[in-house]
Amino acid sequence: MNVRSFDYRAQLTGIRGEIDAAIAAVLDSGTLVLGEAVQRFEREFAAWLGGGHAVGVNSGTDALVIALLALGVGPGDEVVTVPNTAVPTVSAIRMTGATPVFCDVDPATALLDLAQLPRHLTGRTRAIVPVHLYGNVVDVAALMAMVAGRGIAVVEDCAQSHGARLRGRHAGTFGDAAAFSFYPTKNLGAYGDGGLCFARDAALADQMRRIRMYGFADAYYAEREGRNSRLDELQAAILSVKLRHLDGWVERRRTLAQRYDERLAPTIARVQTAAGVEPARHLYVVRVPQRDELRRRLGDLGVATGVHYPTPIHRMRGYAFLGCADGHAPVAERLAREVLSLPLYPELTDAEVDRVVTALHSLV
Ligand SMILES: Cc1ncc(COP(=O)(O)O)c(C=O)c1O
Repeated sequence: MNVRSFDYRAQLTGIRGEIDAAIAAVLDSGTLVLGEAVQRFEREFAAWLGGGHAVGVNSGTDALVIALLALGVGPGDEVVTVPNTAVPTVSAIRMTGATPVFCDVDPATALLDLAQLPRHLTGRTRAIVPVHLYGNVVDVAALMAMVAGRGIAVVEDCAQSHGARLRGRHAGTFGDAAAFSFYPTKNLGAYGDGGLCFARDAALADQMRRIRMYGFADAYYAEREGRNSRLDELQAAILSVKLRHLDGWVERRRTLAQRYDERLAPTIARVQTAAGVEPARHLYVVRVPQRDELRRRLGDLGVATGVHYPTPIHRMRGYAFLGCADGHAPVAERLAREVLSLPLYPELTDAEVDRVVTALHSLV
């Protein structure tokens, strides 16, 4: 028996009837783009977050770009984020014309280190993108207080945090805006690409809506510059079905993570949940020496694992032009050498968790 890291078909089995009906309803509706299914999903997702405005777009990357553009970020601006995130966090910043600035992370939580943030803020800082990595949550309430009155916007990267809460409130509802990804592996995953911008402010959401569709307010008239980044009706209908199950799936992730917590030897270090956070448990991440060798041997034992992420972005050739030397973010650099993501998804069985734990214990 092999333990896989992800397979969307395991989840599909349980919701196949609902999905097939939703797809059929879209095909029968006569509208494939920006119709009733997208509007319904946007309403449902905003309500699930506790109110506000949701704008469906075609990826998490575009959700970040559009949120930053709507907030006025552009060439000459600096945007602070972390180097231990998925590359799209940083490519999104670049796509606005702004310059990414890397702040190191907290060694326990792997999240943006708010204590180090002030030394990265300059007169050109226009936005901060805190990343709720692995389903853990940055204290964005504290961050908002730090930057209040300085003309600095905060866009939460929620690609990995659907269902996470900070002091009882959903991740994504603290900043000026938030960006969600519905890439298939995410806690809420489409059957293809998808994303969503969220804002509590209606006027900001209107700007996001314009940018996703050529800058149009009315047909064939651009009020501003825009692009094409529409969520399609099929994905929206699929996401509406899956949203109904999301809380249950996140709960199951938490139960499985707790099983890892209880069964893993205390000598195996893990990334910690931040204070006041109910994590979404997108990934369960341990920290191990000789990670690559261990990962290979786990693979030989039939356990698939992941590494999120093996290279801090400031050390990638594609971002060498930013001129960040080795040692710019020592905590993120060390995490990149040690982190290992164990299998974690709602359809994983208790027995499979135990099998992963046994395999890991036999090697460390
Ligand atoms: C932290 C983070 N930000 C942004 C993204 C980009 O999302 P997408 O792949 O939907 O463009 C991802 C997904 O890979 C992510 O994990």
